[in-house]
Amino acid sequence: MVIFNSVTKIFPNGDEVLTQIDFHISQGEMVVITGKSGAGKTTIGRLLIGDLGPSKGDILVDGESIVGAKPKDLISLRRKIGTVFQDYKIIPDKTTYENIALNLEVAGYAKEDIAEKIQKILEIVGIPSKTDLFPSQLSGGELQRASLARAIATEPHILFADEPTGNLDSVTSKEIFKLLKEINKAGTTVIIATHNQDLLDPNGLHHITLDKGKIVKDSHPPKSKSKKSKKK
Ligand SMILES: Nc1ncnc2c1ncn2[C@@H]1O[C@H](COP(=O)(O)OP(=O)(O)OP(=O)(O)O)[C@@H](O)[C@H]1O
Ligand SMILES: [Mg+2]
Repeated sequence: MVIFNSVTKIFPNGDEVLTQIDFHISQGEMVVITGKSGAGKTTIGRLLIGDLGPSKGDILVDGESIVGAKPKDLISLRRKIGTVFQDYKIIPDKTTYENIALNLEVAGYAKEDIAEKIQKILEIVGIPSKTDLFPSQLSGGELQRASLARAIATEPHILFADEPTGNLDSVTSKEIFKLLKEINKAGTTVIIATHNQDLLDPNGLHHITLDKGKIVKDSHPPKSKSKKSKKK
């Protein structure tokens, strides 16, 4: 469902920040990408949504290559992926409601369905009373939840959450992690990038470890017998 095939990223200044990245993420997986600051986690997210192009290699989402995709195809590929980036990219002069509504409108949702949908999503992420507040009026944890709400409102197949617990206390971080697990249980493939491994326990999850732009470990959780699916 998400395949990075020998992806190398060299920025125009000549810095090679990712070197021959290979990984495979299956539908419904929960994946944690860890690595020190500067290891290349955010760059992987930007490549995944086609915000950056790889210098070498290929990236496939649901069997379709992002590299060289036509703008029209890139738009439909991006619709499959919800993102929460480190800087949130939430619009400061719009309320929680308006920020989510904008995403839904762009994705083609009917105006009459939007209000109900937003209320439901805000309940899922635990901030139903913050509908009409602006980003600057939200706490760090609430802002993180609002960003998550916006990302999942359009029901993406894949959620890329970049540093979703950055700057949060450990209790709130655990709650956000629990929320991400619930989103994953509901069927979304969840990819979490973090430099703070202590707050997320990657045990039992697909865990990719990056170091200076290279994958140094890619461990899958042991398959439980009940979940074992038939080979194709
Ligand atoms: N546009 C750019 N031009 C040159 N170098 C860049 C550019 N964008 C990112 N980099 C470099 O790429 C490297 C990886 O950056 P990236 O943001 O992916 O790291 P990260 O693992 O997400 O770090 P953090 O944990 O601090 O968020 C860094 O050394 C950064 O300076
Ligand atoms: Mg980053």
